[in-house]
Amino acid sequence: MAAMAGVLETLQRSIEDGEHHTRQQMEAALGSQFGRYVEIGLALREAFERPELRETFIRRLKPFRRLIIGNLPAGVQRHGLLPALSPQQRAGLGHRRLDDIPDSELEQWLVDDGRLIYGEFKPQELHNYFTVIAPHVKPGSAMMDLGSGLGKVVLSAALALPFASCTGVELLPYRHAMAQQRFSALLAAGDAALAALPSPPAPDEVLHLPYGAVTDARHVLDLRERVRFVNGDLFEADVSQAGLVFMYSTCFAPLMDRIGEKLARELRQGALVSTTTFPLKHPAFREMAQFQSGTVAWTTVFLYERTGELDGLPPAPPAYLYEPPEDRWEKDVREHMSALNP
Ligand SMILES: C[S@@+](CC[C@H](N)C(=O)[O-])C[C@H]1O[C@@H](n2cnc3c(N)ncnc32)[C@H](O)[C@@H]1O
Repeated sequence: MAAMAGVLETLQRSIEDGEHHTRQQMEAALGSQFGRYVEIGLALREAFERPELRETFIRRLKPFRRLIIGNLPAGVQRHGLLPALSPQQRAGLGHRRLDDIPDSELEQWLVDDGRLIYGEFKPQELHNYFTVIAPHVKPGSAMMDLGSGLGKVVLSAALALPFASCTGVELLPYRHAMAQQRFSALLAAGDAALAALPSPPAPDEVLHLPYGAVTDARHVLDLRERVRFVNGDLFEADVSQAGLVFMYSTCFAPLMDRIGEKLARELRQGALVSTTTFPLKHPAFREMAQFQSGTVAWTTVFLYERTGELDGLPPAPPAYLYEPPEDRWEKDVREHMSALNP
C-alpha cells in the first residue's frame, strides 16, 4: 500500500507549472482557423505602434473597452501571440488596415484575444481547490477542464481525486501539444516508478488518495486510459457525461452567458461546475459555494450544481462585464503608447 502511495506522490510532484511557459507565436496561422485573429491583431498592433495611427486605435477600441482585459489588449503587447513581423513583411502580407475592419470583427477579436490569455492556479491554490471540491466529487465520475491549457488541472485531478476519467479541451494547438507532452512525461515517470518497486502491485491493492478518497492501484495503473486531451473548441465539446466541469474562466467574461447556456442544455442534473472570477448566472444552476478571493485562490471560485428542468426558466441575466471610465481608459492607453514611442 505504502509503495503505491509513494508512486502517486512522485507523480504528483512531477507535474510542472505552466504559467510562465514560452508562448508560441502564431507564425503560421494566416490561412488557418486563426488567420482572421492574426490579421486583425496585426492591424491593431500597427495602429498601436505607429504614432500617426494612434487616434484611430483609440477611436476604434474605446466603444469596446469593456471587453479588454487590463485596458490594452494582450495581443498588441510583446508577450502576445501575434508573430513579430518587420514592417516589410507586414506590408508584404497586404492585409486590411484597422479602419477597413468592421466593428463586429473587432469586437469578436477582442473576445478571442481575452480568452487566449493564459493563467493557472499556483500549486497551493490547486491544493486549496482540491480540498474544497473533494467532498463533492462522486467517485467514478468524469471530470472535464474546458480550456485546459497545458493540462495541469487535468493531470493533477486525475491523480488526486477518484475520477474515472479526466478530459481537457483546449483550442490552441500548441497548448494542446504541450499538454500531451506533459502527459507522456507523466506516464513515463509512472512506468519508471512502478518498475522500481520490488514487486508489481496487484490491481486491487488499496490506495488512499490525498484528499480522503479510498480507491485501488488501478487508479495509477490505468492512468493512460483515464486521461484524455482534445484539441478543440469548448463550445463543440461533448460534456454530457461530465460530473464536474472545471473552468479557469477569468478571461472568459463575455463568453459566460453562452457557456452557461451550453452547460444548462447538455449537463446531467446533479453535475457540478466550477468557475473562477465570473459567476454562472443561468437559472439552471444552483450556487453551492462561493470562495472569496484570497481564500481558495487569488480570485473568487464559484461552485454550482446543475438542477431541475429547463422548461419555463426565466432568461439568464447577462454576465457582469466591467467597463472602465472612458477618460481613465484613454489616459492609460496613451501612457502605454508614449512608453513605446516617447
Ligand atoms: C486561463 S487558461 C486555463 C488553463 C487551465 N484550465 C488551467 O487552469 O491550468 C484558459 C485556456 O482556455 C483556452 N481557450 C480559450 N477559448 C477556448 C475555447 N473556445 N475552447 C477551448 N479552449 C479555449 C485558452 O487557450 C487557454 O489555454
